[in-house]
Parts: sequence; structure tokens; C-alpha cells
Amino acid sequence: MATAVLGMQWGDEGKGKVTHLLAKDATMVVRFNGGPNAGHTVIDRGVRFGTHLVPAGVFYPDVLSVLASGVVIDLSVLRQEVEEISRHLGWRPRLLISEAAHLILPYHRLLEDLEGMAGTFGTTRRGIAPVYRDRAAKVGIRSGDLLSPPRLRRRLDERMDLLKRLAPRSPEIDALSGGGLAEELLRSAEPFLNSIGDAAGAIGEALARDEAVLFEGAQGALLDLDFGTYPFVTSSSTTFAGLANGIGVPLLRVDCRIGVIKAYTTRVGEGAFPTELVDEVGETLRREGAEFGTTTGRPRRCGWLDLVALRHAAAFDAPTGLAVTKLDVLSGSEEIKLCRAYRLGGRETTRFPLAAEDLAECQPVYEMVPGWREDLSGMREYDELPKEARSYLARIAEGVGAPIAYVSLGPSAEETIATGFDSE
Ligand code: IMP
Repeated sequence: MATAVLGMQWGDEGKGKVTHLLAKDATMVVRFNGGPNAGHTVIDRGVRFGTHLVPAGVFYPDVLSVLASGVVIDLSVLRQEVEEISRHLGWRPRLLISEAAHLILPYHRLLEDLEGMAGTFGTTRRGIAPVYRDRAAKVGIRSGDLLSPPRLRRRLDERMDLLKRLAPRSPEIDALSGGGLAEELLRSAEPFLNSIGDAAGAIGEALARDEAVLFEGAQGALLDLDFGTYPFVTSSSTTFAGLANGIGVPLLRVDCRIGVIKAYTTRVGEGAFPTELVDEVGETLRREGAEFGTTTGRPRRCGWLDLVALRHAAAFDAPTGLAVTKLDVLSGSEEIKLCRAYRLGGRETTRFPLAAEDLAECQPVYEMVPGWREDLSGMREYDELPKEARSYLARIAEGVGAPIAYVSLGPSAEETIATGFDSE
């Protein structure tokens, strides 16, 4: 049975832990969007990893880890991650890289900086928007090009010519076009050349054999290029609705779709955030939840859970079960607030506005839920949870329209409760 794990907020929901947990029973784990802007925290045999590109399958010897066509790859990041994880494991993970996956090159990071994207949108400075832009503009370099050095050199020359014409007096671009880029790329790619191939075909065959394929989403639904909080979004499709396009296989059956939700909300970077707490309560969430970015180290903005935004995400993710993470962080709050609607233009609405300007005007309408004092970290059964925590979870399930499949009470795999409700 195929499973998809998808973030339903602005990323950082704790997908890394959930995919690591589920990957051990998979035959194939597929990343289908984003690139090294993602930061998935995984604890494997007591060692903490912040992975950016490799799918969670790399930690298991029998699992094939696939970087599908929707992923954008920085070969130097991939190389570093694979080397580090191979040292930890004592063997090399099995990788398949789609020949259609685009490569992040030094000029993508440079363009992101020259255009000031980090300042305007709070981007991660990993070259994400420029590489996806190149893909759409048909001037990208794909991993399949690495298999034909003459083709690679020709495409790179054409790309550099275009860059020089657009920015004739840029010393940075001149420095990059001094040659050597193709050779450098081929050197970084050397350990992966045998792993580049027809990922869509392999995924399609595994699905046809009804294998346990796990699709690992990066970022979250509210960062989706089209249906997130545009323009304060990432540049790929982050939802179940976007998954088929990110792998190149029609998804007729993925019976299990786990929507991952942090028990409160966080956001890094710019953009409206109706339930943001800029007070002591937000500070406490940041401290207790260790809310600092895995990729950039930036402090995350923190706030209450937003059912309006989650219902919007659910429309694109169609979750069959929810994984609620970091519930333990809320222990000790007298009262917890849940946003059930927005007030916009003097009216109450439960619709999530697509225009950033409208979202910035939305005031949250809260309902109060009683908190609990107990430390949840040692609890292993749903019924052990305090009744207030169970009511909070029940309200989330009702508000989003999907049952609770997992509750995460700490970073390690054991600190998880599985309820058994996860598939259609
Ligand atoms: P970009 O993906 O680097 O272009 O950044 C666009 C927006 O998405 C910024 O607000 C980033 O902070 C955010 N973002 C990208 N990847 C992640 C992630 O994995 N977790 C949380 N936020 C992310």
C-alpha cells in the first residue's frame, strides 16, 4: 500500500520523524518536491541528522531512496549528506535520481542574492526560486545531462551566455563563466552517475506491484506555489494534489495520506500569519519547542493552531489520517486557543484567502480549550493522555475532517502513539 506524508502548515511540522518511522516498512521512499531548502530532523540510532535532500529511506538497507523529477538537486549538498550518512551506517544508501530532476548551480544562489529574495520573501538562499524559474523557462540543467558531458557543456555555455547578456557588467557572473563549471559539476556528480535513471518508470512499476511506496513531502501546504500564501511561498507543489506531477506517475491509489500538523503553528520567513503570538506565550512556545530552523537556524515565528488554514490544506492533501507532533510542548498551558474562523472586513469567515494582502487583514476568532499540566513524554497509549489533551486532539480531528493517526510526544521514534486510524 502506498503512503504519502505531507506537511499541512508552513513546513517544520515534524515530517522527518514521521517519514523515518514509516520508511522502515517501505520498499521505496520518494522525495517529490523542493530541494535543500527543506530540513528534516531525523534521529537514527541515537544520532540526530538534519537532512536536506536525501529521503528518509536512506537509513534502511533494503529501501530504495528516490529523488523524483520534482526535486531540485544541489550535488554538493547531496554528496555531503550521503557521505555523512554512509559513515554513520557503515554502508552506502541505495539511490535513484530522476534524469528529469533539475540541478541547482552556483548561479542560482547568486541570482537569489542579487535579486534580494531573502530580504523580500525570507527565502532560504539555496537557489530554489531561480532553479525552478529556469525549469519553467526551459533553460535548466537536468541530472540526465550529466550522462552526456558534451551536452552538459553545450547547455551550460548557452545558459552562461544568456546570463552574461542579461547582466553584462556583473563581476560575479563573469567569475562563474570563466569555465570549469561543467568539470566541477561532473566531479561532484561522479559518485551518483550510476544512480541517474528513469525514476518515474521505477515508481510506476513499484506501485503496479502494490509495493509499500512512501512519498515524502517537503515544506507544507501553506507554502505551496499556487495554493499557499503567494508570494510568500516556496517554488514547488507541496501537496498531495501536486504529487503526481512531481513524480510523473498518475496516482490512482495512495490509500494512506498522512497530514502532519504541529500542535501549534510556526512559520519562518516573511508573510502573514493570523495566529502569530508576539508575546510571552509565543516566546515560551519557541523556547519549549526549540523552534529554530534546521536549514538556516532562524528563530521560527510561533502561534496557536489555525483550523481555517488547516481546512484549506486538507482540501489539497485529502488526508486519511493526521500525525499531530509536539503535543508535549503545550503541557503547562492554562488554556489553549484554537482559531476557528477569521474576521475580515467586519465579517466572520471560515474561508482562507489566497491573496497575501487579505490574509494580513484577517483577525483570528478563537475558541478556548482547557490545557493540561502533565508531562506527556513518557506516555505510549492514547488513553494515557490527559482528557484535556484528548479533547484538543478530537477538536483538531473534527475541525480538519480526518482522524488522528499518530501523536508525537518527543523527537525519538519511541515517543509516538499510533492509533491505527490512518488509511481509507
Ligand atoms: P525558498 O523555498 O528558499 O524559496 O523559500 C521560500 C519560503 O519558504 C521562505 O519563507 C522559507 O522560509 C520557506 N521554506 C522553504 N523551505 C522550508 C522548510 O523546509 N521549512 C519551513 N519553511 C521553508
